[in-house]
Amino acid sequence: MSVGYVAVQWNRHKRIYDGLVASGVACYLVVFFLAGRTLYTGQNAISPEILVMRALGTCAYLLLHIILCIGPLARLDRRFLPLLYNRRHLGVATFLVALAHGVVAIGFYHGFGILNPFVSLLTSNTNYGSLTAFPFQILGAIALSILFLMASTSHDFWLRNLGASAWKRLHMLVYPAYGLVVMHVALGILQAQRSPWLAALVATGVTMVAGLHILAGTREHRRDQHESHRTRINGEPWVDVGSVDDIADEHGSTVSVNGGERIALFRHRGCISATTNVCAHQGGPLGEGRIIDGCITCPWHGWQYRSADGQSPPPFTEKIVTYRVRVIAGRIQVDPTALTPGTAVDPARIEETVHV
Ligand code: HEM
Ligand code: FES
Repeated sequence: MSVGYVAVQWNRHKRIYDGLVASGVACYLVVFFLAGRTLYTGQNAISPEILVMRALGTCAYLLLHIILCIGPLARLDRRFLPLLYNRRHLGVATFLVALAHGVVAIGFYHGFGILNPFVSLLTSNTNYGSLTAFPFQILGAIALSILFLMASTSHDFWLRNLGASAWKRLHMLVYPAYGLVVMHVALGILQAQRSPWLAALVATGVTMVAGLHILAGTREHRRDQHESHRTRINGEPWVDVGSVDDIADEHGSTVSVNGGERIALFRHRGCISATTNVCAHQGGPLGEGRIIDGCITCPWHGWQYRSADGQSPPPFTEKIVTYRVRVIAGRIQVDPTALTPGTAVDPARIEETVHV
């Protein structure tokens, strides 16, 4: 987002990250296939087509779990934040692997009859009332359609055209898609009456995803509750939000005021400034970012804003909400009235007694 940063395009870090994802997927598929061929022999031998289908299906399933765990993990521990950087590419990779699984499955189970394979997929099993014979493949197909929608709108072009909140709402469909995939696998296992280990693995995955989300949500809610009880000072607009020592030099921090509204504070060259915590790109948590090249830098995709006025450096034009801030005896005080995005506010010098 800064002049030196090329947003959501290829750069060296993304290439390394994508290279690791591609080799991880390739290794997983090869190991799964070879293990299946070695472990299941003779009467138990599994056909290569089914092994490929299973390798691709479980790989997509695993990737979906990783994607869903990255968000809460990064909220619980900042060390996971770099993983958020390329989550979109991981999403596209998941769709491609799931697509390959779906294509092999449709070709293998529906490609040899007289019906069109897609018609066969939709009509060959209509036991919707049965748990053990439920047409679980349809659930996989709906989930795949959602993943397609998300992968095809993952580019910043769509983010700009749909607007951040509509784009975000669209991409929250990953949760219904996950639910459908879990049902697809669970009902598929039920029909094949396969190993209880596989069922235990599915249950462990769901528990892990749900548990991490609940843990991260509860911790943030508790922190917001605790911090939102900050009181105004002597009827003035100012709210005490902590000590200057709570913020490392050239770093940010997040505080909650007004019953949960999050404000990002930054310490830069001996001054404190305050902006919204919500990045104009995709709502990334600015307070978890750093000052790079003199600008507030979002930890998610690196969009930048000047701390003095919340405006992106030229040639970029994005603006974020700023807040008045002052420092009194080492304590930071913020006026929680949000100013128009891009409003210049003098940063508060740490040495000064009062700065309005
Ligand atoms: C058109 C879409 C889809 C179709 C037709 C389809 C079809 C199938 C079929 C027939 C099986 C049973 C394979 C076997 O004999 O073992 C299966 C299993 C599975 N599918 Fe799908 N599927 C689709 C989409 C998806 C998606 C989107 C995901 C995950 C993101 C997924 C994940 C899995 C997994 C994890 C299994 C269990 C693998 C195993 O048997 O060990 N599927 N699918
Ligand atoms: S840069 Fe993407 S959310 Fe901030």
